[in-house]
Amino acid sequence: MPAIALSETGNGKDFPAKLTGQVLVCSIIAAFGGLMFGYDIGISAGVTTMDDFLIKFFPLVYEKKHRAKEDNYCKYDNQYLQLFTSSLYLAAIVACFFASIVCRKFGRKPTIQAASVFFLIGAILNCLAQNLGMLIAGRLSLGIGVGFGNQAVPLFISEIAPPKYRGGLNICFQLLITVGILAANLINYGTSRIHPYGWRISLGGAAVPALFLLLGSCIIVETPASLIERGKQEQGLYTLRKIRGVKDVEKEYAEICRATEISNLIKHPYRSLMKKSSRPQLICGTFIHMLQQLTGINVVMFYAPVLFQTMGYGSNASLLSAVISGTINVASTLVAIVLVDKAGRKILLVQAAIQMIICQCAIGVILKMFLLTTNTMPTVPAKVVVILVCVFVAGFAWSWGPICWLISSEIYPLETRNAGYFFAVSTNMVFTFVIAQAFLSMLCKMRWGIFFFFTGWLLISLIFSATMLPETKGIPIDEMIDRAWKKHWYWKSYFKNDNHDGSKRTEVAAEIEEKPAA
Ligand code: BGC
Repeated sequence: MPAIALSETGNGKDFPAKLTGQVLVCSIIAAFGGLMFGYDIGISAGVTTMDDFLIKFFPLVYEKKHRAKEDNYCKYDNQYLQLFTSSLYLAAIVACFFASIVCRKFGRKPTIQAASVFFLIGAILNCLAQNLGMLIAGRLSLGIGVGFGNQAVPLFISEIAPPKYRGGLNICFQLLITVGILAANLINYGTSRIHPYGWRISLGGAAVPALFLLLGSCIIVETPASLIERGKQEQGLYTLRKIRGVKDVEKEYAEICRATEISNLIKHPYRSLMKKSSRPQLICGTFIHMLQQLTGINVVMFYAPVLFQTMGYGSNASLLSAVISGTINVASTLVAIVLVDKAGRKILLVQAAIQMIICQCAIGVILKMFLLTTNTMPTVPAKVVVILVCVFVAGFAWSWGPICWLISSEIYPLETRNAGYFFAVSTNMVFTFVIAQAFLSMLCKMRWGIFFFFTGWLLISLIFSATMLPETKGIPIDEMIDRAWKKHWYWKSYFKNDNHDGSKRTEVAAEIEEKPAA
């Protein structure tokens, strides 16, 4: 094979590729990791309002809930109940650190397989739980699954997808998160009438997608980047040809090899991530996840039924409202799949931030006006709040939901991708944990003011997405530095006199130009 000059590979032309069945199937199977994540998010919301579940594990909350004069804003304020929801994210934070190591040393595929095993164990423990300890142990195991899955799946999809379709395919992950949430809401709606063990069916249901993921993860390919990174060049080239569906993959192969050689020179990816030239990606990749959680989305996802009950809806009506907002979540994520590679990432983020600001503000105003300490909210404003929640969810679902996972999986060069992505996922988990643990107490203390707290953060998100994020639409993943970061009005200054990317890339480039490509 002739030597491949780097000037040809890094010049920004897209690499030839078809959207093959192989890429589609592998992306969908891997995205089942998202379904597991979504199911776990959605299931705790409904289960925590089921009386049978509360009597067994949280009798104090049960009593408080049924005390007629209890403060509207405080009836669910219980640290243990919040711990049931949040413990999963605590485990996920720790797990994604180990997952980032497994991902780099052993590959994306085994990391996804490990996730499915933890999911399965967690679902079984939860379904059979006899006491709070067993229940929390199950949640912790699910959390480890989430840590492993969320670390590996978006990376996996970004690496196997052709650049042109990367955004859309990557959003399959988010799409299945939303499908998981909806499935959980629907199952809760059904099992809430099955006494006294409906909650066991809800929690045990997670075993079904976990099993599918376990079986599916045995047939997916390993990504070419991960194979080449671990010294399996031939297999990498073979897989690349297979997933691209064209013979002419040499340019892309050379680009991956170039990125890999640089990556392999980096012995301490975490240290390298702290260098000046990695800072733009690190800051944007983590900040966007923090802001995603501070939109307040998980207040709706975790506590929508509780919130609706707070406003005076009955138990069934509350679960039904959660099903409605869950359906809107799925439908709006489809909008993102269609638009993200056409309109771009930034415009969707900016538009949706404005939409969400209006909704959070309006909800705050309505609650302030109509939800007093012990009254039942009048029907009309209560209905308007449900509509506002739905519009809020729609905005999130076509923007900050999917795009934040997408951006953080595509902005890093290979050498810091795993480490950088670890920071992104763990930031997401930390803030998910904080919201899950603190929301019910914050609602009790701040009352309607909590919605203005989220509005404030949304304003910051608006400014951040409009000014600080580079557009990454359509740029091959290994050309991000040159074509996105070095062109950004602010971040470009981080790449002046850039020894890390400059000298190392040039050294390796010179070597590769001299020797045959494969
Ligand atoms: C977020 C989750 C959220 C979900 C809602 C995801 O992108 O990371 O925290 O619950 O979207 O669809």
